[in-house]
Amino acid sequence: MSRKPIIAIDGPSAAGKGTLARRLAAEFGLPYLDTGLLYRAVGRRVLDAGEDPSDADAATRAAQALQPEDTQRDDLRGPAADAASSMVAAIPSVRAALLAFQRNFAAANGAVLDGRDIGTVIFPDATAKLFITASPVERAHRRWLELQQKGTPADLTTVQADMQARDERDSKRGAAPLTAAADAFVLDTTNLDADAAFAAAVAAVKTRLRG
Ligand code: DC
Repeated sequence: MSRKPIIAIDGPSAAGKGTLARRLAAEFGLPYLDTGLLYRAVGRRVLDAGEDPSDADAATRAAQALQPEDTQRDDLRGPAADAASSMVAAIPSVRAALLAFQRNFAAANGAVLDGRDIGTVIFPDATAKLFITASPVERAHRRWLELQQKGTPADLTTVQADMQARDERDSKRGAAPLTAAADAFVLDTTNLDADAAFAAAVAAVKTRLRG
């Protein structure tokens, strides 16, 4: 194959995309980009400036000023960063400002990218597209467990409500809403452990690489 492979991984939060994408990148020897970190870093910049993440001008300025090292910060997760990222992500000019970075990332060597619109908007011609999902109850439970393990215990009902609000914002927005590409392989991980999900994903990617 002359073209470097691009593997697009989309799906809602806490469906297992990140773990899977990282393992696929190692398996196929490709660079990995967690595109959620870009939106998180923009949201964090807006919060730091004391501005409102739903203010299109403030968020667009933050997106245009984003530096790659902003995505290395250790305060990009947690309830405030979660909410701010999904607010800035609903703004079309923020998405436009982050487009070139994502495309350039894969230009030289191909890549595995995970996000919400990789297979639909960023790389509609990706070599392989996976849409990773799981039931809302299972996803909230996974996020809750993750918080416990990090030593920041949270109330399960609150985690579930926050996640539902974010899912709605991500899937009902006008700009690049979360949706599976028509040609994506849909993998429901509700009843799969990480190894089983990985095995299914590798098989799906290999089929597309051969095709
Ligand atoms: O994947 P994540 O939870 O880290 O993403 C943070 C937020 O950014 C999420 O609410 C949706 C948004 N996002 C997006 O709109 N498009 C992407 N490609 C990645 C993330």
